[in-house]
Amino acid sequence: MLKLEQINKIFNEATLDEKIALDQINLELKSGDFVTVIGSNGAGKSTLMNMISGALTPDLGNVLIDGKNVTKLPEFKRSQFIGRVFQDPMAGTAPNMTIEENLAMAYSRNKKRGLRRGVDKKRREYFRQSLESLHLNLENRLNAKVGLLSGGERQALSLLMATFTKPSILLLDEHTAALDPSRAELITNLTKQLVEKDKLTTLMVTHNMQQALDLGNRLIMMDKGQIILEVDSDKKHELTIDKLMAEFQRIRGEKLTDDKALLSI
Ligand SMILES: Nc1ncnc2c1ncn2[C@@H]1O[C@H](COP(=O)(O)OP(=O)(O)OP(=O)(O)O)[C@@H](O)[C@H]1O
Ligand SMILES: [Mg+2]
Repeated sequence: MLKLEQINKIFNEATLDEKIALDQINLELKSGDFVTVIGSNGAGKSTLMNMISGALTPDLGNVLIDGKNVTKLPEFKRSQFIGRVFQDPMAGTAPNMTIEENLAMAYSRNKKRGLRRGVDKKRREYFRQSLESLHLNLENRLNAKVGLLSGGERQALSLLMATFTKPSILLLDEHTAALDPSRAELITNLTKQLVEKDKLTTLMVTHNMQQALDLGNRLIMMDKGQIILEVDSDKKHELTIDKLMAEFQRIRGEKLTDDKALLSI
């Protein structure tokens, strides 16, 4: 489903600010894999997401999706088969458009021209039903401007929009980090529900260790542009925060006093 081969990315190469953001990354996801990604600030997690979405191109290496080499395919073309939700609740939706207009836009993302415009009765009913599944009463606010919604409501809507067209890959980059704990939990549960419903192949970056353990069937830990630990489905359910910290210490050879050093919360 997704294959990253020998991905390298250096920012500001050959200057004083040179930064190796990704260093020989190899990763393969099977259809339906749900991988949680952890690692300290600056480890390269968002850069990795940007490689997959096409927001950035690698200096070296290849990105394959569904067996197709998409390394040179621009972001707007990849968006037909990639769904993405960012940390910032303001990023995923258009504030001056209504809930219905936002949904219509997401819905037509991978449709041919001609099928794009207009919201007929059938589609409006589909939108309403989808919104009902969020349990936020948004189904009764189809004509409300999205800019008026709370951060949690916008993030729920972004998640719905990102998964509407059953993308080949779903990318979540700390999408619950800007929310208060109860809203974060709501979005976490919603994520689980939407991913499981369509068995979406998913990569989720999080600084919340418990979330990284609770969600998904695989886990990777990044550090200094490398994947330093991979835990696959047969081992993931045995993981604990203590075990993860011990692994990090073993690999880095550094003593950690608590998980903050690893997660930089
Ligand atoms: N456009 C850019 N220009 C220069 N350096 C960049 C750029 N984008 C990222 N970097 C650098 O590359 C490194 C990896 O950044 P990245 O954003 O991928 O980290 P991250 O793991 O997502 O961190 P965080 O947990 O803080 O979000 C960092 O040192 C960052 O400063
Ligand atoms: Mg990041």
